[in-house]
Amino acid sequence: MTQPTFTIAHLSDLHLSRPEPVQAGQLLNKRILGYLSWRRRRRFAHQRAILDQLLEDLHGQSPDHTVVTGDLTHIGLPVEFAQARAWLERLGDPQAVTVIPGNHDAYVREDWSTTFASWEEYLAGDDAGAWSENAYPSLRVRGPVAILGISTAVPAPWFRASGRVGRTQRERLASMLAELQQRDLFRLALIHHAPVPGIDPWRKRLTDVHETAQVLAEGGAQLVLHGHDHRARWSALESAAGTIPVVAVPSASYVLTSPDKRASYNLYRVQRADSGWRVEVVVRGLDDGVIKEFERRILTVPNFSQVPGASV
Ligand SMILES: [Fe+2]
Ligand SMILES: [Fe+2]
Repeated sequence: MTQPTFTIAHLSDLHLSRPEPVQAGQLLNKRILGYLSWRRRRRFAHQRAILDQLLEDLHGQSPDHTVVTGDLTHIGLPVEFAQARAWLERLGDPQAVTVIPGNHDAYVREDWSTTFASWEEYLAGDDAGAWSENAYPSLRVRGPVAILGISTAVPAPWFRASGRVGRTQRERLASMLAELQQRDLFRLALIHHAPVPGIDPWRKRLTDVHETAQVLAEGGAQLVLHGHDHRARWSALESAAGTIPVVAVPSASYVLTSPDKRASYNLYRVQRADSGWRVEVVVRGLDDGVIKEFERRILTVPNFSQVPGASV
């Protein structure tokens, strides 16, 4: 019997907001760099019209769930969070859309109540009461998929775009993955920064990348999706059960059209199979002003239940 397919859309690095109006006092910190960068370059490089075009196509694909891996804003101003909230409502109901934060959303330390609180319904896990920055990873179960949302969003020093998961969150992630191995669910992890050692420049890296990669591999993540690099990239983590695919999408609003950076999003069609799971990826994006399918491939995902000594 053919098993039903659950489809997840992944987009990232929308950078959709305008950090205006801005008060001089809000720029008396690292934000001045980000604001000047936005004035000079980023407001031209990221275009709302491109994002709107992708969104129209995405809605036409009718995914069962959509995930957004951070950097919705430029410098994390409260006014940008409000703009992004309005946009998220166009994307979908909070129950059908999972968001994790990126480094631009936590540009400097800012009061939760004036920023992330407005996205709370999109950030929170299923069993959350009041959500907070201390509550990650989030866990949502949608169809046959357990979606783990990891936060790497901590204010980085000047001239850096690094991120950090942190020991507390890594420990929680390890125990959540261990529990999930007792359930017949596909384990999908979302993270803004690449959790693969050595692939990002020092300035932009995940500072605890080795420790995080170890938890994902030993805990039994089956697919990891991320953004941050603004380019399409297929990488992997090695585990006892085989290779865990780690896939990045480019910015969904970027104007340039080089093959690895043009605005696009991925669709993942997840289906139970005799050997574990069948996952098909479809890459869709903008080419010369027109949305096209760029690529389609079947991912080989690890089946941890076949590892000697595994709990299932
Ligand atoms: Fe970004
Ligand atoms: Fe980023």
